[in-house]
Amino acid sequence: KTIRIDATRVDKGGHRHFMAKEIAEQPHVIGEALSHYLTADGRDIALPDTMPDFAGVDRLVLVACGTAYFACVTAKYWFERIARLPVEVDIASEFRYREPPVADGTVALFVSQSGETADTLAALRYCADKAAHVVSVVNVPESSIARESGTALPILAGVEVGVASTKAFTCQLTVLYLLALKAARQRGHLDADALADRLSALRSLPGILNHALAQDRSAKKVARKLAEADDILFLGRGLMYPLAMEGALKLKEISYIHAEAYASGELKHGPIALIDKRMPVVVMAPRDALFDKTVSNMQEVMARGGKVTLVTDEAGLAEAGDGVTHTLVMPTVADDLAPILYAIPAQQLAYHTAIAKGTDVDQPRNLAKSVTVE
Ligand code: AGP
Repeated sequence: KTIRIDATRVDKGGHRHFMAKEIAEQPHVIGEALSHYLTADGRDIALPDTMPDFAGVDRLVLVACGTAYFACVTAKYWFERIARLPVEVDIASEFRYREPPVADGTVALFVSQSGETADTLAALRYCADKAAHVVSVVNVPESSIARESGTALPILAGVEVGVASTKAFTCQLTVLYLLALKAARQRGHLDADALADRLSALRSLPGILNHALAQDRSAKKVARKLAEADDILFLGRGLMYPLAMEGALKLKEISYIHAEAYASGELKHGPIALIDKRMPVVVMAPRDALFDKTVSNMQEVMARGGKVTLVTDEAGLAEAGDGVTHTLVMPTVADDLAPILYAIPAQQLAYHTAIAKGTDVDQPRNLAKSVTVE
């Protein structure tokens, strides 16, 4: 079954492609999501009454496909670090056939833009009579996944037409981050003032994203070079690892260039054998606690002739900019929010590489917006 999006309901708003429009909309739609979930005084997160209290939850299972899966992998870092809640993440097509035990006290959470992805829906149905509660994070509130969940949380990204998901990804991340903060508060790992501080940082995110969007020209220049490659490697550590995976997926989806992502610490366990001067390497590395480690991996790449594009902030550039081939400089942001911000250069690189290659950005070959069959 193919879900057709009524293109007459949305237009490109002056952009060349829906994808460009959807990238540009991110500050606005994230702002919408924040207005929806933050309480009037901006100090707390309001969730539906059906949502279970995380204090009584033992384990969280996050299940999705594609980009939504990478949002889940990012969320695992947040839930475990901020809320000390153990998280299992799985690809829906693996989860549904593995038929894993779902222990008492487990909340199962499904993330889907369309809310109609066949594997995600099947995984949800598998959990329906096993999990303590089924939650979904969806963009289409009337979708099957939303309707079959105990609690459906909208991401409020608006209609997403481009097959390559952009604004839905960052809105998914925003909602998942809010859930991790709520869980941390309910589980006693964040006091009221600390939560209010985190939310205040989050409210400044749309403005910061606008600065990242303004780097579009630099991304375009780098992309012209990436377009000449046959293979591209993305590296990241910690929260930047799932983002590296998302960057690689975005690039291969619309430019048809083979791209792979590795946790940068894995480099020496195999992929470093691929490095030569024809292999561009995109390193996602804000100046955070893991920066030095990522930089030493990056230096290993450069020592073998690898051409590095470093996506970092001013502090990171000052410390590690020497010898890299290209840099994209992001505004400074709270460490936990970096995946949302760094999604923008990942999307811009994919977008401009696809344009340079002349592919169909909004409707890439072999892909459907919503995969409602196996
Ligand atoms: C993202 O760019 C993809 N087109 C794809 O991976 C997508 O995220 C995946 O099919 C899941 O879709 P959903 O969010 O509608 O469930």
